[in-house]
Amino acid sequence: MNAPNDLYVIGLGVSFPEHLTKQAIDAMASCSKLYSIVQEPLLPWLPAEKMGKIEVVNLLDSYVDGTLRIENYNRAADLVLEASADSTSVGYVTYGNPMAYDTVAQLIVKKAAEQGRKARVIPGISSLDSILCDMQVDIAPAIQVFEASWMMAFQIVPRVDTHVILMQMGSFGSYRSHYGKRLSGGALTGLVEHLLAAYPKEHRVSLVRSTASGQHPEKISTYTLERLSDATVEELSGASLYIPAVRQPTPNTAMLRELEAN
Ligand SMILES: C[S@@+](CC[C@H](N)C(=O)[O-])C[C@H]1O[C@@H](n2cnc3c(N)ncnc32)[C@H](O)[C@@H]1O
Repeated sequence: MNAPNDLYVIGLGVSFPEHLTKQAIDAMASCSKLYSIVQEPLLPWLPAEKMGKIEVVNLLDSYVDGTLRIENYNRAADLVLEASADSTSVGYVTYGNPMAYDTVAQLIVKKAAEQGRKARVIPGISSLDSILCDMQVDIAPAIQVFEASWMMAFQIVPRVDTHVILMQMGSFGSYRSHYGKRLSGGALTGLVEHLLAAYPKEHRVSLVRSTASGQHPEKISTYTLERLSDATVEELSGASLYIPAVRQPTPNTAMLRELEAN
């Protein structure tokens, strides 16, 4: 059952105002309080009629550096849920698509459901979308997406016959919040070793920092896998890693013949 007040989880897209959807603008306009992790100024994303008239709470102010990220995310989700318990409509505003690697969004949806409420999730263009466009690669027929640290922690070796996107390269190696600290490629030595178990050392991989904006084109830094540790702080910060397939998967020729015949 929905409570009378609305609880929104709103995605802004990767680049704003370019990616702002009417649905996201309408959702923000209907809220009386917004919570956000967006660190850019309000002007490019907050609906003009709300400027100066609505409280926008920066959730990063509640994050404690050095603690486990999940603790900060839980606290942030609780703040949003508490605010929406009274009669006001509240929105959580975030980057990209809220259902793509956003733990606060997940926690809000989950905690709301536990209270018998349904959060309204407004999709945004994800960095996954813009990376695919920057690399001019189709998701089809298959693509693998992993959180980089999680992939290693769970001993997952990607299939080399399908493209891969690794997320959260800039915070590789820690589940703690280190907001002032920016990693360089040297922090990726363990990840490179892990990938070298499956990929040739000369395989070319790309750190992609996508903006999807005409004024600030995407940054793509391509390295052979064995040299990925040479990446600079600027190249790694906020970037994802695109690993193209090494080869085609092995076909089941009988099945392929059937697909073509039917
Ligand atoms: C916490 S996740 C949030 C993703 C976001 N919800 C989305 O849909 O894009 C942050 C990660 O998304 C990826 N990312 C976000 N913005 C990006 C960009 N402009 N270019 C490439 N990757 C990006 C990076 O892997 C980054 O570490």
